[in-house]
Amino acid sequence: MNNEEALGIVETTLREQHLSKLQVMVFRQAWEEQSYYAIAKTSGYEVGYVKQTGSQLWQLLSQAFGEKVTKSNLQLVLKRKAKELDRKSSVVKISHNSSPIKHYPVQIDWGDAPDIAPFYGRNEELSTLKKWILQDGCRLVGLFGMGGIGKTSLSVKLAREIQGEFDYVIWRSLHRAPPFEEFLEELIQSLTISQDIKLSHNFNHLILQLLTCLRMHRCLVVLDNIETILAPCDRSGGYLPGYEGYGQLLKCLGETNHQSTILLTSREKLQEIALIEGKFNPIRSMVLTGLSEKAIQDILRIKGDFFASTEEWAVLVERYGGNPFTLKIVAGTIQYLFNSSIPNFLESLEEDTSVFGDIRYLLASQMERLSDLESEIVYWLSIAQKPVTFSELRTDFVPQVSLADFLEALTSLERRSLLEKVTSTIKKKTQTLFTLKPLLMDYISNRLQEEFLQKLYS
Ligand SMILES: Nc1ncnc2c1ncn2[C@@H]1O[C@H](COP(=O)(O)OP(=O)(O)OP(=O)(O)O)[C@@H](O)[C@H]1O
Ligand SMILES: [Mg+2]
Repeated sequence: MNNEEALGIVETTLREQHLSKLQVMVFRQAWEEQSYYAIAKTSGYEVGYVKQTGSQLWQLLSQAFGEKVTKSNLQLVLKRKAKELDRKSSVVKISHNSSPIKHYPVQIDWGDAPDIAPFYGRNEELSTLKKWILQDGCRLVGLFGMGGIGKTSLSVKLAREIQGEFDYVIWRSLHRAPPFEEFLEELIQSLTISQDIKLSHNFNHLILQLLTCLRMHRCLVVLDNIETILAPCDRSGGYLPGYEGYGQLLKCLGETNHQSTILLTSREKLQEIALIEGKFNPIRSMVLTGLSEKAIQDILRIKGDFFASTEEWAVLVERYGGNPFTLKIVAGTIQYLFNSSIPNFLESLEEDTSVFGDIRYLLASQMERLSDLESEIVYWLSIAQKPVTFSELRTDFVPQVSLADFLEALTSLERRSLLEKVTSTIKKKTQTLFTLKPLLMDYISNRLQEEFLQKLYS
């Protein structure tokens, strides 16, 4: 019996379930008595991940065949199974030239994922994320960044490009803040679409049921807009009352062994990830920064032609931090009020740095989530109008608070992607300076001016 025939028996026995691409690779090479190291080498995956996939595969086969299957007794069990099937005359005869086993996701459910075409740039980010997920076998990946920077778009683009590597692909947005148990039940049902599964009424058992699905199959689950269920004004990254179960679930999904990937997007970095992420851990995070000038030009050209020199494009993109959401709004204004002339628009900004339209709502909604101390730091940074050092900020600007509170607030602002860090070297001494993202700086200055005028005329 060759490995194709053996795989045919496995597929027949597993019926509704399908092996993932890597499971098939491990099976074939284990059949040829290759070591995990050799499999890792030819497949390009890390050896730890290949071993983990192998152990999950033997577990799956043990359940299916009703006896212990290991890498070393694989041939023995399969040959016996083939004889049994032959005896019952129900064996699926497989020719030596049979075509390779087909792989396709059992279930793809895009939920309310937006249509992302056309998509520009982010090649580096895409290849890093693919490496983390497909080669390094990361279980939990966080995609963080300011509102409008492109988290959702990148998550959809990535999921579409790698969907063929998974048995299940599920995309869910949490923007309506679904209650935890409802969400968990729905997720388990989506991952067991072809099985008749009885859902537990016990919260911990439900988490275990989900883990079983994530172990049995290679699933990609994208959870968008996680910030919706995080408590505002909470520096510790806590959850809204009643939503703490999500935190427990994410912790468990990061710490427990399974062969799936959960990709999260959030405007605020999650505590569960911040604490355990690492270059050598299967838990990683990426903070998205602005898009390149080229990508922004491509996005805006869909709206129409703009008049600008290369330098003027650069000034515009930098001013709005390469944020595609804000730049799309600004582009509309430039078209209607400035005859599509970027220099004319930039000139108007020299007199008045007003932040307008939906950009205001976006920034206001991010500001509303800050604690009092975080707001205070933001206001002081805006008054400073230039990057300041840690000690300047602590001693000159922000009223005396304990160092612990101050550090926590500064870390929290960083996790919300609102701070900008600048490194400067004076007399061979390198120091880190803090300032606000340029757009936030303008917005806070506008707000301070408005508050001042209101006080003056009231
Ligand atoms: N790489 C890209 N190519 C083309 N358009 C993009 C790209 N990235 C983002 N956009 C566009 O920019 C806008 C904002 O993107 P997106 O909704 O993905 O941001 P977000 O970070 O998820 O924002 P939020 O925090 O509000 O959810 C959308 O209109 C989207 O289509
Ligand atoms: Mg989004």
